[in-house]
Amino acid sequence: MTSVGKNPQHFLGVAIVCAREAGEIISAAMDRPKNISYKGEVDLVTETDRKSEAAILARLRREFPDHAIIAEEGGISGPGPSAEYQWHVDPLDGTTNFAHGYPVFAVSLGLLQRGEPLIGAIYNPVTGEMFTANRGCGAFRNGRPIHVSAIDKLAHSLLATGFPSHKRTQNPNIHYYWEFTLRSHGVRRAGAAALDLCSVACGQFEGFWEFGLKSWDTAAGILLVREAGGKVTNFSGEPYRPGDLECLASNGLIHTEMQHVAVTIPDGSAPQIAGKS
Ligand code: IPD
Ligand code: CA
Ligand code: CA
Repeated sequence: MTSVGKNPQHFLGVAIVCAREAGEIISAAMDRPKNISYKGEVDLVTETDRKSEAAILARLRREFPDHAIIAEEGGISGPGPSAEYQWHVDPLDGTTNFAHGYPVFAVSLGLLQRGEPLIGAIYNPVTGEMFTANRGCGAFRNGRPIHVSAIDKLAHSLLATGFPSHKRTQNPNIHYYWEFTLRSHGVRRAGAAALDLCSVACGQFEGFWEFGLKSWDTAAGILLVREAGGKVTNFSGEPYRPGDLECLASNGLIHTEMQHVAVTIPDGSAPQIAGKS
């Protein structure tokens, strides 16, 4: 293995190229009729998700044959779960938005090293914003440093959440939505978790939570939030790991307040199996 072969800056460079290439595929398909199929009752997938993923995977496999890849539409490939490096790829986060022509979607690539986030790149092909993070080096939007907001009260905060497109009836997040809406400036539900996390990282949202997100939804975004000075845990305050059931991301200052609200929500409302598909 050459020194370039283990250089996080090189990993990030490749992630950026992949995200841009995938973004071009998505942009080219934006105004064309969508070829939609269903993975579940309301879980959409389009031809563009698959094309975007194919382009990303081809480059990652070529560049890093010894890395494992976990991608939303194609599952696991490469040397397997024991590999030191694992890419978690969402080729089109916000598929439902994309299918309806609502311009909020992104490409997300996160690289974990022995389970810990190392690299994140999230590209929004509509705005041209490229969000990047390299562990220990800060978070950036189009090369400029970004930071979480300085608001320290939930009552003055703008929040975001999302609802999974599978097993909706077993995910009573609506109770959390209700409680947080009453206690904040409001809760946005834009439909692309990777971008929600970017919005926490750059101080547009003070907090975000969701249940049942997959590793490809969060692997890049949680690194962005942490590198921008924020915090990502479960509702008990333990560090969030990609694929955990509960994801609570914030600027750090309203984190405890959000945790307290979450525990006031009656037990019967707590999602039990939302993370399992
Ligand atoms: C979805 C989006 C959405 C979130 C869902 C995800 P997809 O990802 O991130 O915001 O609420 O839980 O599944 O299916 O558009 O890649
Ligand atoms: Ca997603
Ligand atoms: Ca997706």
